[in-house]
Amino acid sequence: MEALAPALQARAAGPLRGRVKPPGDKSISHRALILGLLCIGETKIEGLLEGDDVLRTAAACAALGAKVERLGEGHWRVQGCGIGSLLAPREPLDFGNSGTGMRLMMGVAGGHAITACFDGDASLRKRPMRRILDPLCLMGAEVLSQSEGGRCPVVLKGTSEPLPIEFSPPVASAQIKSAVLLAGLNSPGRTVVIEASATRDHTERMLKHFGASLSVEPFGDHGKKISLEGRPELRPAHVMVPSDPSSAAFSLVAATIVPGSDIIIEGMMMNPLRIGLLTTLLDMGADIEILDRRDEGGEEVADLRVRAAPLRGVDVPESRAPSMIDEYPILAVAAAFASGETRMRGLAELRVKESDRLAAVAEGLREAGVSNHIVDDDLIVEGRAGDVEGGGMVATHLDHRIAMSFLCLGLASRRSMGIDDSSMIATSFPKFQSLMEQLGARFS
Ligand code: S3P
Repeated sequence: MEALAPALQARAAGPLRGRVKPPGDKSISHRALILGLLCIGETKIEGLLEGDDVLRTAAACAALGAKVERLGEGHWRVQGCGIGSLLAPREPLDFGNSGTGMRLMMGVAGGHAITACFDGDASLRKRPMRRILDPLCLMGAEVLSQSEGGRCPVVLKGTSEPLPIEFSPPVASAQIKSAVLLAGLNSPGRTVVIEASATRDHTERMLKHFGASLSVEPFGDHGKKISLEGRPELRPAHVMVPSDPSSAAFSLVAATIVPGSDIIIEGMMMNPLRIGLLTTLLDMGADIEILDRRDEGGEEVADLRVRAAPLRGVDVPESRAPSMIDEYPILAVAAAFASGETRMRGLAELRVKESDRLAAVAEGLREAGVSNHIVDDDLIVEGRAGDVEGGGMVATHLDHRIAMSFLCLGLASRRSMGIDDSSMIATSFPKFQSLMEQLGARFS
């Protein structure tokens, strides 16, 4: 994934029209494979996202002893080996660009008597891992080696009997919560995670779906307390992966900012902990109709009809960040087309994503002629009321969401917009280009 792919340009080419079905949710796809590994028997998954990040997790599950097979497009079968029966991988586990894959699998390995080396690409090697390793060490795992500042490559020696702990993650992070719960699966007691701000709950939902005993209570104003009984008898289950709201976000914003657009996004997951962008766009005046809400595989999904609309700048509260943490780059693009200022508060976590997204977004917007500034951890974008100059070339810093966000900007700006490297798009949304072209987008 590290070879530079051709740069790509997006240009305005009339309204977007038609229907799209975004790919399967990345968070759920990782978790479905991992829980398949952790139960004995056959787990079938439909709609799995076949992006590079998820394929790395599939390979890691195989390296730990599961039989992982692709039966057809998005259709996978995992024959797991069960909690307590994982194999030590013979080679380092290479997670490519995927922080989620690495962090969740650190939880799995940390709760087993195996030693594994975790590694990734140049982006992943810069990302903080102590936030995961610290609670795992409290549970009895040991870090045998790590790069400076707790970065990967990391060699982790897990424990056969993880101590049950009560842990409050220092930052709102579903990855930290999930790593602790996954390690707690092999603990003889009860593992408790207390989060001050609720983050995506796919691990909790899927653990229940596979038969674990888990309770969730409200905690404080925005938080949750999750308690998991260790060593459950997990039962193989069928998983249907709904469409990823973080991938739907690109067509959602593109159709809002390209004049005359009118599209339908099919089957987007409406999990309340994932739809902060939808809430924010509606606040900004977007024209989005939510149609046919229904249940699919334990998650609510809906079709969205999105028509182009003028947007107004808004103040996005910090408390909304966990429900739209990956959507700030594309929200910043929407804000560039709004009239007035948009302030996005409390974005410290964006500095440690696949790139320093706060800096990358600010730089990309400047490249497109959009004034913005960063005050503490807030990003303030001066909207151009539909008239964005564009032009220039955005540095994507090995970050798929920076790449896709600025391509969407180019679909509505006066001059075409370039990105320096489109290769990382394949980590989460391999069909991004063809799907957007199907709606009428033009890339070259
Ligand atoms: C994810 C959690 C988020 C998000 C990432 C996927 C997950 O990270 O940014 O893309 O699947 O748990 P944090 O929980 O660290 O914020």
